[in-house]
Amino acid sequence: MSSNLRWHGGHLSFEERCRLLRQSPLTIWFTGLSGAGKSTLAFALERRLVTDGRAAFVLDGDNIRHGLCSDLDFSSGARSENIRRVAEVARLFNEAGLFSICSLISPFFHDREMARNIIGADRYLEVYVATPLPECERRDVKGLYAKARAGELSNFTGVDMPYEIPLSPACQVDTSCMSVDACVDQIVANMAGRLS
Ligand code: ADX
Repeated sequence: MSSNLRWHGGHLSFEERCRLLRQSPLTIWFTGLSGAGKSTLAFALERRLVTDGRAAFVLDGDNIRHGLCSDLDFSSGARSENIRRVAEVARLFNEAGLFSICSLISPFFHDREMARNIIGADRYLEVYVATPLPECERRDVKGLYAKARAGELSNFTGVDMPYEIPLSPACQVDTSCMSVDACVDQIVANMAGRLS
């Protein structure tokens, strides 16, 4: 970072923004394999929160890679940069008073720790979408597992790149044996203890 930069503080405090929006924001970070159901749950949670009168916005891996992160591939270095950028945006949204809902494979422990540090541990709530690989592969919604198995796609999480299972997520759900509503119920119940 250049030493020729200086932080310019605003005139509104975080507390004023929270009062205005009547909420204290969190980042809900969904991690799990491709096809586990992260995006489905993220958008269902967003709907649930907004219906309850809370301001929330989803930062979805596939969507973000259409714009902000369209220059990044799936090497481990590029995935780190993807997660760093999304975490920085999630933090800004939280600063603005919004709930951030992030859905990214985020396969590596150290990258999720980076996200936690950027966002702040008190505002970061990790949800592990633990749908097993055989079920994700059976769904193969985008046909990417088939391509990866055929060798047409490299660095594919769960096939030729690892997924490091979260050791102590705030919440764990599995869309192979739970309905979307049941998963969202569990996440919202978990959030309740974190909302002031
Ligand atoms: S992350 O690892 O950097 O967190 P992210 O969630 O943004 O990944 O993007 C994953 C999406 O990109 C998947 O939903 C999948 O559709 C697509 N994709 C394309 N190539 C790959 C790959 N090699 N590994 C994983 N996902 C891939």
